[in-house]
Amino acid sequence: MSSIRASVHGQWSSRWIFILAATGSAVGLGNIWRFPYLTGENGGGAFVLVYLFCVVMMGIPIMMAEILLGRRGRKSPVNTMHTLAAEEGLNSNWYLLGWLGVVAGFIILSYYSVIAGWTIAFIFKTGMGDFIGSNADQTTAIFSELISNPVILLFWHTIFMFLTIYVVSRGVKSGLEQAVKFLMPALFILLLIMVAYAMSTEKFFDGLSYLFIPDFDSLVDKNLFSDLFLPALGQAFFSLSIGMGAIMIYGSYLSKESSITFNCFVIALADTSVAILAGVAIFPIVFTYGLEPSGGPGLIFISLPIAFGQMPFGTFFGSLFFILLMFAAWTSSISLLEPAVSWLVENRNMTRIKAAYMAGFIAWFLGLLTVLSFNHWAFEFTFAGTIKENGLFDIFDILTSNIMLPLGGVLIVIFTSWLMSRSSTIDELGVGDNNIYKIWYFIARYIAPLGVIIIFLNTMGFFKLFSLNN
Ligand code: PFF
Repeated sequence: MSSIRASVHGQWSSRWIFILAATGSAVGLGNIWRFPYLTGENGGGAFVLVYLFCVVMMGIPIMMAEILLGRRGRKSPVNTMHTLAAEEGLNSNWYLLGWLGVVAGFIILSYYSVIAGWTIAFIFKTGMGDFIGSNADQTTAIFSELISNPVILLFWHTIFMFLTIYVVSRGVKSGLEQAVKFLMPALFILLLIMVAYAMSTEKFFDGLSYLFIPDFDSLVDKNLFSDLFLPALGQAFFSLSIGMGAIMIYGSYLSKESSITFNCFVIALADTSVAILAGVAIFPIVFTYGLEPSGGPGLIFISLPIAFGQMPFGTFFGSLFFILLMFAAWTSSISLLEPAVSWLVENRNMTRIKAAYMAGFIAWFLGLLTVLSFNHWAFEFTFAGTIKENGLFDIFDILTSNIMLPLGGVLIVIFTSWLMSRSSTIDELGVGDNNIYKIWYFIARYIAPLGVIIIFLNTMGFFKLFSLNN
């Protein structure tokens, strides 16, 4: 039945546009800003290894489940869950899962936009040659000066949120295709150039071994679940854009003929390669110039500018890099706003423009808390063995990626593999009852939910992980 049901929002014009859009959502600050700094905070290789494990064993199967739900429901996540629960004869409260995603989307967008604002500020700083010949102390000073000024942060946050609202108000499909088709490959190439620069630095191999060779000794007095698995799991969800309905809504525009399995592998591969490349580009610079890998959210904004200040045509490459990073953030942020906007359009009969401005304003307003987290309202606490210095920003980040997204993901995969009828999932995965389906079904039923639940349970006493530092 669902095969003839058209999306209320229309459809992507081809499978590749879906792949591009979903990759646009997945590849963003999560890969280039968050992945390296979390890797640095969590000790390098072991984190990367666990991260890859989480992507394969939980991320990809959950992404398949989420797209499957989107394509079958063909509405905003809240209404999709409502419709599918009714169709499958399940409790109607499943629509609350859609709301969990909407709320997570608001919170993530609120701080995502502030960080994206840093990238816009850095386009100008690199473009004006601020980093030419600078050392680690100088780039650290420039970054600290930026984040200590709430007015400037607010300014760039406002600009970025406006850009997000603008695209969403026009419908995410127009514009997205061009942006992703040309800018993503350009970003990829620029990362390769950065990797080439990293190869020329003294500590290239130190950077590589930090990233790829787990240092098990450093794990001795850690709680593996809370200090390693939880942040890696959170990063997998964050980076793949899963667990909150963003990919579900993109799936709702996907045509029936397109293979969900194939699409997911392409998206996850692209996403993971960008993150790994970013790590390979950054850590050699970090070690060569004596920076601390555990430097926190400023890591790329302090390390990369040193490279741009040293390399030939660094001013050009530097500003181009931050321009492309801003675009990558932009194609992600629109998918964070879309679940709320599509709900307002469907249920409140609002025009898309009004809905986008309203929802965007709420996220913008919430973003003020992040703006202040880096200066006036900064406070320190310890989470899962790591000192966090930026109060509410860190709390928002931990709450969403380590709790809300995995919780959303686990509910999505339980709904799909335990509660929906097998015929519905076979119909959507379009593969018949063959081996691929069987593997997915097994992982989706047992491994992915149990993996997340085991990590959660072992992290319980969760609040004990927080301790205020004074
Ligand atoms: N995946 C995006 C990134 O890596 O930057 C961030 C993101 C987008 C997270 C959409 C969650 C989401 F639903």
